[in-house]
Amino acid sequence: MRILGINALFHDPAAALVVDGVTVAAAEEERFSRRKHGKRPVPFSAWELPERAARWCLARAGIRAAELDAVAYSFDPGLARPAADMGLFDPWDPLRLEYARRAPGFLAETLPGLDPEKVVFVPHHVAHAASAGPASPHPDSAVLVLDGRGEAASHLAGRYEGGELHTLAQQTLPHSLGLLYEELTEHLGFLRSSDEYKVMALASYGKPRFLPQMRQLVHATGDGGFTAHGVDWAALAPARAGDEEWNQDHADLAASTQAVLEETLLELAQWLHAAAGGDSLAMAGGVALNCVANSRLARLGPYRNVWVQPAAGDAGTALGAALHLARDPVPMRGADLGRGWSDDEIRHWLDEAAVPYERPDDIAETVAGELARDGVVAWFQGRSEFGPRALGHRSLMAHPGRAGNLERLNRVKGREEFRPVAPMVLADRAADLFDGPLPSPYMLFVHDVRRDWRARIPAVVHVDGTARVQTVDEGREPLVARMLAAFERRTGIPVVVNTSLNTAGRPMADDPRDALECFGSAPVDLLAIGPFAVRRGRAFA
Ligand SMILES: [Fe+2]
Repeated sequence: MRILGINALFHDPAAALVVDGVTVAAAEEERFSRRKHGKRPVPFSAWELPERAARWCLARAGIRAAELDAVAYSFDPGLARPAADMGLFDPWDPLRLEYARRAPGFLAETLPGLDPEKVVFVPHHVAHAASAGPASPHPDSAVLVLDGRGEAASHLAGRYEGGELHTLAQQTLPHSLGLLYEELTEHLGFLRSSDEYKVMALASYGKPRFLPQMRQLVHATGDGGFTAHGVDWAALAPARAGDEEWNQDHADLAASTQAVLEETLLELAQWLHAAAGGDSLAMAGGVALNCVANSRLARLGPYRNVWVQPAAGDAGTALGAALHLARDPVPMRGADLGRGWSDDEIRHWLDEAAVPYERPDDIAETVAGELARDGVVAWFQGRSEFGPRALGHRSLMAHPGRAGNLERLNRVKGREEFRPVAPMVLADRAADLFDGPLPSPYMLFVHDVRRDWRARIPAVVHVDGTARVQTVDEGREPLVARMLAAFERRTGIPVVVNTSLNTAGRPMADDPRDALECFGSAPVDLLAIGPFAVRRGRAFA
């Protein structure tokens, strides 16, 4: 059975292809269009489809649109209610709904040969849920979806049993933890529906002194749902203009909102555990990208295993919608579901670009040597990642032992200086250095850096002594693991700094041209692309 999943309506348009339960391909449109998040999440753009991502998914599997058994669209306009009835101020919502209703026709235009009758509307939060439970290593787990908004709700709590989703609670709009965080993001002068992770980083610089006021409006209600609506942000701290410096009030407001989010999340998980039992929880929805909240839940919550879909934002609903319709969905093995190139193809790109390159005996050793000499390395290997994190396929790397490398990487990327960069570590060494949920292959938790290691890896230790760790499993990621082991042999440190391969405001590099453009425009010493090494000194001599 061949099912194409489509996310298009709100954020992060994406496509995914599931064949006989196996996820063959999944990619976000931004990686093709080179426009961050694909489009702005406004009603006027709701008709836009992830055209290139969808066509690539089909091409990857060598099938035509006419051969699809179903197209799963991750929103069901039949469940929506007028925005005003849901307490939302969204005068253009009818336009968005109209586009959703007409999506089958738009899809048939975009993918010639597709029968529009094959398009199935999957409820938005069911799609998020299916990207969590069935995709996780524990398919029969409890699921918690925490989102901005779907058709008429912002959350779903349930349980998978024998592949069936049993929904136990849904919080209706306007109460929404995702919209609450988005409002704060906007109030603090960042880009709404895009920069929420900056607010999370800013929170660690503040004290939650507005927590009592926040608790009045934001808390779990004891029935599986919560209240979260109507915060008068300006009464707590003045709005920040985008070009203004942030001050302590801004950081304290971020810290207070982060704290109330964490408390609420914990209570929701406790309710779900009491209602559904089990020892595994799978999460999705944009709020599940909040790795600080996830860690508190993993540490203090009732579940032994907490798994978070790496594409927890709306992109992941493309995958979830397809998995929901699949008969026997197979858990995902990794996030490397995007585009990849053969060695010959990469060589061709390099020859076309006319840059000098070499093919060392082992690119992992070459990179480890460059990092040990304190070089910055662009690392382009295998298939690109599905979801917002670079996980060792499209990464920018540096030595973690020099504190100045945080600032240096932020400068390479042209981004705010309070933003931390993250460590990748060999899975079997992780517990020696970090305390927190392990393994952590998708960088969706934060960990305490053990005291004796803080001074040894200062570039990756955040102001509060934490780090957002990615663990690298040798069996799953042999090349990255070999590079980490080679770096440890040279330096005694089993960690390298890992951040995404892009410059500020741009999507992650996806194809070899993107990697070459990034290498050409930023002070990167070495580009490791497939088995080849391009050195700055030689390329620009
Ligand atoms: Fe969503």
